[in-house]
Order: sequence, then C-alpha cells, then structure tokens
Amino acid sequence: MTTVFHFFFVPFSIGMAFVVAIMETMYVVKKNETYKKMAQFWGKIFLLSFAVGVVTGIIQEFQFGMNWSNYSRFMGDIFGAPLAIEALLAFFMESVFIGVWMFTWNRFKPAVHVWFIWLTMIGSMCSAIWILAANSFMQHPTGFAINQATGRVKMTSFADIITNPQLWKVFPHVITGAILTAATVVVGIAAFGLLRKHNHDFFKKSMRIGLWISLFAAIAVIVAGDFQTQQIIKDQPMKFAATEGVYKDTGKSAPWTVIASFDTDKHETKSSIEIPKVLSLLAYHKTTGSVQGMNSLNQELHAKYDKKFGADMNYYVPVKTVFWSFRVMAGGAALLLLTSILGLFFTRKNKDTIENKRWLLWVLGICTYTPFVFNSAGWLITELGRYPWLVYGLQTIADGVSPTTTAGQLWFTNIVYFLMFSLMGAVMVFYSRKIMIKGPDDDGAGYGATANNDPFSKEAFGR
Ligand code: HEM
Repeated sequence: MTTVFHFFFVPFSIGMAFVVAIMETMYVVKKNETYKKMAQFWGKIFLLSFAVGVVTGIIQEFQFGMNWSNYSRFMGDIFGAPLAIEALLAFFMESVFIGVWMFTWNRFKPAVHVWFIWLTMIGSMCSAIWILAANSFMQHPTGFAINQATGRVKMTSFADIITNPQLWKVFPHVITGAILTAATVVVGIAAFGLLRKHNHDFFKKSMRIGLWISLFAAIAVIVAGDFQTQQIIKDQPMKFAATEGVYKDTGKSAPWTVIASFDTDKHETKSSIEIPKVLSLLAYHKTTGSVQGMNSLNQELHAKYDKKFGADMNYYVPVKTVFWSFRVMAGGAALLLLTSILGLFFTRKNKDTIENKRWLLWVLGICTYTPFVFNSAGWLITELGRYPWLVYGLQTIADGVSPTTTAGQLWFTNIVYFLMFSLMGAVMVFYSRKIMIKGPDDDGAGYGATANNDPFSKEAFGR
C-alpha cells in the first residue's frame, strides 16, 4: 500500500521536472513570456508532487527496519551502498537545485536560471537509477556471494551491481513512463482550461508542448517495454508466462491471449480469446518460437530449489493480477499514443479546431488520471510477478519479514500509514486546486473561484 501510494508521486515528479525544463528552455530560446509563465505555473505542481514523494518515501525506509528486518539484515551489504549514494549525491543534488531554481527567478539571467531545473531533473533521474539498482538486484541478483558464516549476501562487485542488465532495461521504461505521466497531466489540465475557455494562449501552448512530449514518450515507453519484456523472458520466465496467461507450453508458434479467465486452483485457463502467432511475435519478433508455460516452469523451479527451500513452495505468481495489470499498462500506452496523435492533429497550424471538438477535450481531460493507474499496474507486475521471492532465488518473502512483528502490529501501522497518506494526498489535492484555481496569472486575471480549470472540481464533471 505504501509503495503504490509513493509510486503515484515519484514518476509524476520525475516527469514534471523534465516537462518544466523543456518549457523553461523554450522561454530561453524563444524569449516569449508565456513559456516563463508555463514553467512557473507547472513548476508549482511539480514542487508539490516532489514534497509528497519525499515524505512518502521516508516512511518506507522505516518499514525496512520494522516489517522487513530479516530482509534488511540479509540484503544490507548490497542495499546500503546504492541507497546511501542515492541520498548523498542524487537526492541532495535534486533538493539543492530545486530550492535554487524556486527562489532565484529574478536573480539570474534566464539562460543561467534554466540550468537549475535541468540539474534538478538530472538529480531526480540519478536518484531513480540508484533506487532501481537496488530493486534490480532483487529481480536479478548480480555481483554478490553468500557469506557462509552469516548466511547473508555480500557485495563482490559494485560494477556488476550497476551494470545489472535488468537495471538498464527497467530504467528507460520507468523514465519514459514518468515523462508520459507528466505530459498527460499537463495536456489534461490544459484541456480542462480550454473547456472553460480560459487563458487560451497559455493553455493551448501548454497543451501543444504536452502533446509532443507525450507522443514521443508513448512511443519510447513501448520500445523500452519491449526491451524489458525480452529481459524477463530470460530472467523471470514465470513472470512472463503469467503476464500472458500461459499455463501449458505453447506449440511452435505461440498464440497471444487477448482476454481470459483462469482457474488458479487447478492451474488452467478456463476460457480465452486468442490471436494466432502474435505471442511469438511479441516475445521473439518472429512468427515462430514457443513460450514455456507456468506448469512446466513450476516443476523446473521445484527441481532447482526444493533442496534449499522445501517442497511445499508455491512458485505460481498471482496470475490474474499480473495478467490483467499487463493489459491495463500496455493498453494505456496505446490509449495515450492515440490521444497524443489526435490532439496534435486537431491543434495543427492553420487548422486548429480543437475548441470545437469538446469530446476530445473531455477525453484528454479525463486521461489526466490514467497514467497513475498504468504506473501502478506496471509496478504490480514487477513486484507480484517475482512471487514467492523477495530476492530472486535467494530469499523468499516469508523469510524476509520481521520475526517479532505480529499481524496486529502490521494492521495497526498500516492503518496509521493509510490515514497519514490519505491526509497527505488530500493536502496535495487541496494545494493543487488552489494553484489551478488561481491560474497562471499572478493576479488571477480571468480566473474566479467558480470559473476554473481544476480537474478535481465539481464543475469539471458537472457540464
Ligand atoms: C506496450 C507498452 C508496454 C510494455 C510492453 C510494457 C512492459 C513492461 C514490463 C514487461 C514490465 C515488467 C518488468 C519487470 O518486471 O521487470 C513493466 C513494468 C512497468 N511498466 Fe510497463 N510496459 C508498457 C507500457 C507502460 C506504460 C504506458 C507505463 C506508464 C505510463 C508503464 C510503466 C511501467 C512501470 C512503472 C513498471 C514497473 C517498473 C519497475 O519499477 O520495475 N508501462 N512494463
């Protein structure tokens, strides 16, 4: 629960840093004040998401110690270095430059000031690298040995940890997903602005920038997603089989299951709609090539790990969640690609008719909320698809939990976290509303409490 909530804000703030940096760069290049206003207006939303992202992240550090003490002990030698570098270098860089950027608009020339937001963005991306380096070890351990005296993992090669192939597949996907998230939000809020017919030039320009960024990001997220798929076929075939709902080994050319229902007790597909050959195409980029099913993979994993982890292990991942999450995430890429193309088409030079296409403005507006769902779906695949491992092949989830933490304590802390997070979410929505109601003009010109572009307002859904 805490990770999913944290993950609402992190990709959004990473992506917003990039979008705001592009806007300010356009101000420097074109010397048009509207772009400055844009960087300042969207920059405020970025700052809010950054703040909530940081606070929700800190809580997870406590959880390592409280709920996952065995895991923290087992992994400390590996986890420690990337997390320390993340805090001391990347996060400090990001926090320092975000502050400098925020308070020095009138103190530096535009061509100098723009560097601060780019440095903030680089800091946030470096931060993502170190966090993902730690997570990639959990997905695909590299550069380690088991200390026979303590039974814990110890680092043998820092280079192997940071050149983990999993890391360099997941990083581009997460970053392009983050940029797509931010661009979609900018487009969506601008669409609400245009629906309310406010500050036309500001919202139209914001929308065009957002649409171009989301077009490129949607294409990039699909390409990066394909690379990542190739990686999990190699490293975590059970996860891949679950994303595609494959229980039995397929024939020479594998059909792609569009939708299906499963009997997870009997480990079989009850009914499905399939398209011939397409799974081979997705997995191997050719029309032939078989995909191993979960049933035979389960037997292989038992043969490999029973001696160490016991014969009562269940190696089947939560198939329904992983299967449907994958469809939501990949479908999301297709949806946002389509909306970007439509948006760009109807805002093209000399033939800009988007104001007359209120249905499209509504679609773009409603899409504001969707990338958060797609990111969470991706995260669920990554984390639940690794079941039953906490650290793949080395430590199970059951072995990683704190031995002294009781179910009652877990319930209690999780309810407290839930309440705290709900409060933080409410604060974020409250201040975002304020910023949006005030609008891009400092004096609030053209904006009133009842005429706003706030996507959380009753009005947004009322007309
Ligand atoms: C056709 C499009 C897509 C494909 C083929 C794809 C593929 C994948 C795969 C295979 C994973 C699991 C990786 C692993 O477990 O190591 C994944 C995870 C993920 N995906 Fe996608 N994806 C697509 C679209 C999207 C979109 C549109 C978003 C967000 C806007 C997104 C965000 C994510 C995130 C955040 C993760 C979790 C990454 C992590 O931290 O490990 N994906 N994706």
